[in-house]
This record gives sequence, structure tokens and C-alpha cells, in this order.
Amino acid sequence: MVRRVSTRFTGREVEFVDRETALRQLDELADRGTRFPLVIYGPEGCGKTALLRQARALLEDHGYHVVYVNPLAERMEEILEYTPSVRGVVEEVLRLVPEPYSRIVDVAINIAGKAMRSLPRPKIAVLMDDIFQAVGTDKAEIYVKALLNLIEWPPADYEKAVVLVTSSEGVTRERVGRHNWAVMYVMWNMPRDGFQQLYDLLPGPRPPIGDVWGWTGGNPRVLERLHEAGWNGGVVVRVLAGEKGVVELVGGLSGVEREVLLQALEDPDVLLGRYGEAARLVGLLTEKNLIVRVWDRDLNWVDTPPPERDPALGIGRHYAWQTPMHREAVRRALMAWSNKWDASTWR
Ligand SMILES: Nc1ncnc2c1ncn2[C@@H]1O[C@H](COP(=O)(O)OP(=O)(O)OP(=O)(O)O)[C@@H](O)[C@H]1O
Ligand SMILES: [Mg+2]
Repeated sequence: MVRRVSTRFTGREVEFVDRETALRQLDELADRGTRFPLVIYGPEGCGKTALLRQARALLEDHGYHVVYVNPLAERMEEILEYTPSVRGVVEEVLRLVPEPYSRIVDVAINIAGKAMRSLPRPKIAVLMDDIFQAVGTDKAEIYVKALLNLIEWPPADYEKAVVLVTSSEGVTRERVGRHNWAVMYVMWNMPRDGFQQLYDLLPGPRPPIGDVWGWTGGNPRVLERLHEAGWNGGVVVRVLAGEKGVVELVGGLSGVEREVLLQALEDPDVLLGRYGEAARLVGLLTEKNLIVRVWDRDLNWVDTPPPERDPALGIGRHYAWQTPMHREAVRRALMAWSNKWDASTWR
């Protein structure tokens, strides 16, 4: 039985739910170790941070010394976390590096290397949460290479190493994917059963699960936002649209691109079918984290892949909207454009 960690959800501590398949996969990884860094990419808010925190507990239960960094964490004490067994090494590195928190990713790699030297044939795990935003997506490759070096050219002998990196930045996939320095995995929103467990944790009156599933597509962050907005989907869409700059995105498109985008609301695979005309558009939608290229369903998925096709949720065989809310934000921006930006479109 896996020890389940607690995670903050809608401002409360809840137990990490579901993701059974992912936990089994992590269990296997813990037994084997990883020969390459694993880069896990997935929609914003699908649960990557929660999974990595759960992975920390699982790996520690397998005897790993874990170093975990999350440069974007809200609380200082959550930026760098580690197994107490490496405390001495951590304190030494923090003392030696000036302003360690401004270069926490380097610091963590340093800690892992030193831990390999100071512990007898250790099992070491390095978990890096959303580091590419912090180091700059242009440096994603360099850091992945540094992590590969740690595994391939370790400063001392180790028993096993596990290196996991998460990212919600669409561009990392292409940047990291073009080298053979890491294995890319995709993680999707929660499957229906697991999502229902999260939904059941929410207090107070709620819309029926079928409606909530249709708005969120199983994304726990969207669920959180809907709950906080008193289940007013319109508010959540408007906030998302503002964050993503979808109005500007649509305003900057050519006529053909806008036409393809309109079709992609119904069927995101149009983006592949008309790629010749839509390459730039696909780049923009990826960069703004609105869509994900979903590829094969049976290769390199963390947990359960999305269904082969689910038009209601905006999931195609090749491309998928990150969530139905993301698609709705774009739909409204297109409507606003055709209504000469009439503000009532958003109400
Ligand atoms: N399996 C789970 N059990 C309980 N809560 C979860 C689970 N997965 C995610 N959550 C909660 O859902 C919210 C969003 O998850 P999380 O922050 O892990 O997503 P993320 O993929 O890391 O997002 P981002 O792309 O912004 O980094 C958080 O409040 C998190 O605690
Ligand atoms: Mg995260």
C-alpha cells in the first residue's frame, strides 16, 4: 500500500486521490531507476505538482534520498525540500552558494552530486517541478543535459537514480524532444473516476458531476477555480481568457488561420489536417498552453491517457484542447472578433 500524501486543494488539506496507474509506474521506476531524466509534460493544473509530491513519499519509502525543487512555489519552505538524510549536504551547499534561492536548480543538481559522494552507494532521486519557467525555456535543454550527466557521469558510484522533471510549457516538448537526452512523458487530466473522488471532497451544493466534467474535462485546477467562483463558469472563462491573451491572439491571426481555429473548436485534429496553413497557429496555441499534441495513446503516458477521441471535451486523436474551458475562452474571443469586439460577448 502506498502512503498517500496530503495536498492543498481549494484551500484545504486533502489526501492525494486516484492516479493508481501513475503510482504503479512510479513503483516500477523506483525498482529500476531511470537511465534518462523523465520529462513529464501535461496541461496546466492537471496535477503534476501533486504527483511529484506523492512521488517523493513513494521514493522515500523505497529507500531513496530525495531532493525536490519547485522554484515557483508560493511558500519559501516549499521551494527546496529533501529527505532528512541529506540535510548535512544541503546545508553545506546552501552555505557555499551565494544567493542559493536565485539559482535553486543548479543548487539542487549540486546537492544531488554531493549526496552521491557522501553517502555509500545511495539511491538518489531528483524531482524538479516546473523548472523550465524558472531557468527560461531557452535553457531547458542545457538543464536536461546536466541532469543526464548526473546519471551518466556521476561524481561517485550510486545504486539507483531517479530523475523526474515536470513542465506545463508547450515549447519544452519540442526543445527537449529534439535531443536524446531525456524521455518525454505526457500526463493528462484526471480520469472520470478519480475526478469524481475530488468532486466528492468539495463541500456545499454543487452542480451535477456530468456538468462539472463537461466544463473541466477532469482538470483539478479548473475544478478548484469553478468552486471558488461559486460555480460561475463565465467568470472562470473570462479570467482564463485574460491570462492567456486570447483576444490578442485572435486579433493577430490571418483570415485563414481564424477559419482553421473556428473549425478546431469542433475538431482539434483540423490543426493537423490543415497544418500547411496552420503551422503558425499551432505554434501560438501550443506556446500559450491552450492545446496539447497528444500523439500515441499507448506510448509514454503517465497515468491514463485521454480517450482516443472525445469531441465534447475537445479531444482529438492528434491534438486536444487542454480543457473545455480553454476551448471556450478561444471560442468567445472568436465570437467577440466577429461581433467587432462587442463586450457583451463575454457576459
Ligand atoms: N491526485 C490528486 N489528489 C488531490 N488533489 C490533487 C490531485 N491532483 C491535483 N490536485 C490538486 O489540484 C490542483 C492542481 O494540481 P497541481 O498544482 O498539481 O497541477 P499542476 O499540473 O502542477 O499545475 P501547473 O501546470 O500550474 O504547475 C492543486 O490544488 C492540487 O493539490
Ligand atoms: Mg505545478
